[in-house]
Amino acid sequence: MSNASGYHAVYADWKKDPGLFWEKQAEAIDWFKPWNTVFDADSGVYGRWFHGAECNTCHNAVDRHVEAGRGEQTAVIYDSPITGKKKTFNYAELLKEVEALAAVLRDLGVKKGDRVLIYMPMVPEAVFTMLAVARLGAVHSVVFGGFAAHELATRIDDCHPKVVVAASCGIEPARQVPYKPLLDNAIAQAKFKPDHCLVLEREEHPYDLEPGRDTDYAAVVWAHMEAGTKVPCVPVAATDPLYILYTSGTTGQPKGVVRDNGGHMVALLYSMKALYGIEPGEVFWAASDVGWVVGHSYITYAPLLLGATTIVFEGKPVGTPDAGTFWRVIQDHGVSSLFTAPTAFRAIKKEDPTGSLIGKYDLKSLRSLFLAGERADPDTIKWAQEKLKVPVIDHWWQTETGWAIAGNPLGLGELPVKIGSPTVAMPGYDVQVIDDAGHPVPAGTLGNIVVKLPLPPAALPTLWNADTRFRSAYLDEFPGYYKTSDAGYMDEDGYLFIMARTDDIINVAGHRLSTGAMEEVIAGHPDVAECAVIGIADQLKGQLPAGFIVLNSGVTRSVDEIEREVVKLVRDEIGPVAAFKIALTVDRLPKTRSGKILRGTMQKIADGEPWKMPATIDDPAILDEIGTVLKERNVGQAAAA
Ligand code: COA
Ligand code: AMP
Repeated sequence: MSNASGYHAVYADWKKDPGLFWEKQAEAIDWFKPWNTVFDADSGVYGRWFHGAECNTCHNAVDRHVEAGRGEQTAVIYDSPITGKKKTFNYAELLKEVEALAAVLRDLGVKKGDRVLIYMPMVPEAVFTMLAVARLGAVHSVVFGGFAAHELATRIDDCHPKVVVAASCGIEPARQVPYKPLLDNAIAQAKFKPDHCLVLEREEHPYDLEPGRDTDYAAVVWAHMEAGTKVPCVPVAATDPLYILYTSGTTGQPKGVVRDNGGHMVALLYSMKALYGIEPGEVFWAASDVGWVVGHSYITYAPLLLGATTIVFEGKPVGTPDAGTFWRVIQDHGVSSLFTAPTAFRAIKKEDPTGSLIGKYDLKSLRSLFLAGERADPDTIKWAQEKLKVPVIDHWWQTETGWAIAGNPLGLGELPVKIGSPTVAMPGYDVQVIDDAGHPVPAGTLGNIVVKLPLPPAALPTLWNADTRFRSAYLDEFPGYYKTSDAGYMDEDGYLFIMARTDDIINVAGHRLSTGAMEEVIAGHPDVAECAVIGIADQLKGQLPAGFIVLNSGVTRSVDEIEREVVKLVRDEIGPVAAFKIALTVDRLPKTRSGKILRGTMQKIADGEPWKMPATIDDPAILDEIGTVLKERNVGQAAAA
């Protein structure tokens, strides 16, 4: 392995003295008060970083760049091929927008520690709102626009937001998504009622304000902009929460991942330099959505903490208007580094297999492509390498960690790429592979991927109001380690290979979804006796959910009709993002003798992979029945076999 990279020395440096390592990185941040101890092992569930320090994330992301005389530098570029709009905000303008909005939120009663729920599409106001909430020392929780009312209600009931900030609509290529019915429905369903909704009316879709509840964003923000209202950054403890981001768990109750202020800033800023190799003033584009962790970390916070330029892109890799959109954005804005999910490249490759549109644009600014969110398949990596002629870096992380667990740190010097591997553990992470009994496995052997505690700065300290669930979901199974719920192996060179989830989470177009949550919804259909949802391989989206349903005995209604209702139920309850379109009625589900549904075996059958008859199976004939239904309905690889 090449020694040209500084990675090994830096990793060894971190391992020798993690506290000292992070203290050095923390010098890049403005602190209102220094920490008492860089890592307090006695605080929180497994310890807390920068204990005793005070800071403000908005100050570090916005004000300090203006104070340093860099107010004229572009901070946020809004590029929306879906509406045909473009707008640019420099750091001084960003500060004005954020301060005015913070004044509005303050008028609505938001104080330090209060929660504010954000339900917005990819508009710059979504970023302004996150920063304004941070400015007040309050806590935001952004909900992705592709989730429906029920998911929104679950989050409202969990985090009790004082205010909801929403837009009047999201815009998808083939349709508008009006948010008002979703918001009204969610608030009606939720037990907790927010005091106010601040609504950004988009000209593409009007919004009827609810008297007494809703306030028009533009009018009140404008008033404070005109008045030049000043709102100082509220000092918070480094360990205070900056945001809660809900992510899929194994049940319908999503997990509220908590991110703190101090450690988050330190690790994200470090990652911009060490992993992405980006300098202040450069343009970094994460083509994701603010509703996901990639959007939180690499659309909003990390680029702005660094003093770089970020892009809020409201469009899709294809169809807005074509598969050349990404190249157009890179050219128009001089993007240095693009970060997206492999599925976006699979979509582009499908539309333009020869990459003919790439040649139409000048991509000389582009230095690297980063892929994450799902396994990067070798074909996609090779295609991107060949067409773009820049390093294509797969990196692996999770909502929980907030930044990469493993990657190829371009800022420390690129390591040789091994296609299929997100490369090596980042400084901060002691990654190990262990068997189910907790013993380390030899290099090259598949096992549970775990991280030795403590997790680094920016990784979740706990789940919102749920320390016990945090422990049971992540820490209890392998004492002393954080369980990633990913399985894989590490080779002799320390390269990681991420193979599969060990739980019922599936990855659909880079979106993390819980099959358990879908099963809960389907089980609510009055004609369904039981069901099992599995993720089946899909060339474009990586995986697609497929639901197997067993009807109550005596049901005489049309099976087609019931299946359509089940599909609609998941779309209405969870949202279109679930991409749940396959419902298959079967006579019975394959189970072990103790009644556990054999989802793993069903998945292998659907994907045409080799499978072994489980020794504990109750009735082997049922697996044949599953295979037959898949073939008859032309679903999955079983159908192609
Ligand atoms: N608001 C409302 N609906 C949304 C939405 C949003 N923000 N995002 C997606 N949806 C809808 C889509 O319109 C689609 O609805 P449909 O069933 O009516 O067609 C459904 O949710 C499924 O969306 P998706 O799985 O994204 O499929 P798609 O066909 O619209 O797009 C890709 C496919 C690959 C182009 C798209 O998934 C993509 O660009 N992915 C990039 C990866 C990414 O952003 N990952 C995030 C983590 S890095
Ligand atoms: P999310 O929390 O939505 O970011 O999803 C995290 C999960 O996505 C991980 O636990 C993995 O299962 C998967 N994932 C993310 N990045 C990668 C990657 N580079 N390679 C393989 N799987 C990945």
